[in-house]
Amino acid sequence: MPVIAIPTGRSFDACADIIDGAGLPAGGIRNAGRNLVVDDGEFRFLLGKPSDIPTLVSQGVADLALVGNDVTDESDADLTELLDTGRGKCFMAVAGPEELAGRFSGHASSLMGLRVGTKYQRTAQRTFAAWGVQIRTLFLNGSVELAPALGLAECIFDIVQTGGTLKANGLTVIKRTAEVSLRLVANQGALQLRWNALRPVADAIGDFVSRVSAQ
Ligand code: PRP
Repeated sequence: MPVIAIPTGRSFDACADIIDGAGLPAGGIRNAGRNLVVDDGEFRFLLGKPSDIPTLVSQGVADLALVGNDVTDESDADLTELLDTGRGKCFMAVAGPEELAGRFSGHASSLMGLRVGTKYQRTAQRTFAAWGVQIRTLFLNGSVELAPALGLAECIFDIVQTGGTLKANGLTVIKRTAEVSLRLVANQGALQLRWNALRPVADAIGDFVSRVSAQ
């Protein structure tokens, strides 16, 4: 029975649409309530917090998963990306009060030691390091938009979908740093041992993605 991990939260609807669109059963996960393990037809679905999905796959309890590359980039879990669905589009950005923008248009040295609130600490460090800037990150898992107003950080590094959360908190995108979309990822061992069972799933999702992008 192929086991597919699906993130709860913001990405869930887009994932359920992919599962549906690929002709796989999505009724069970849509009606899961608080169940985290859903058996539907020939499949088992695991519903997990986005940041837990890489662990479920790398530890081999899930064969496949849909998950944003924001999450996989931040994780050091061993995963194989099979395809970019192009769905669930968001972007990563540095955001902050508008008056901070000037510092970002100047020399990198003016950003040295910047305090950045984020739940993406590794990605933030890597992103700023690529600009030659060392930062101090403050881990906040959910209320990150509060950090600048409370003086905990000068800016934040976060995922943006509609921009509504930033706007509601008086913050603006200062630098868009990477594009995010839902990826189909796999456990390497499962690919080797159970490719015959997993391939139809990967093909069905790939076909759906191609159909939709051709429209
Ligand atoms: C993300 C991010 C923002 C929000 C952005 O949170 O941290 O809070 O979504 O979305 P928007 O641009 O549409 O307003 P996420 O949904 O990942 O979960 P969290 O709120 O639990 O951190």
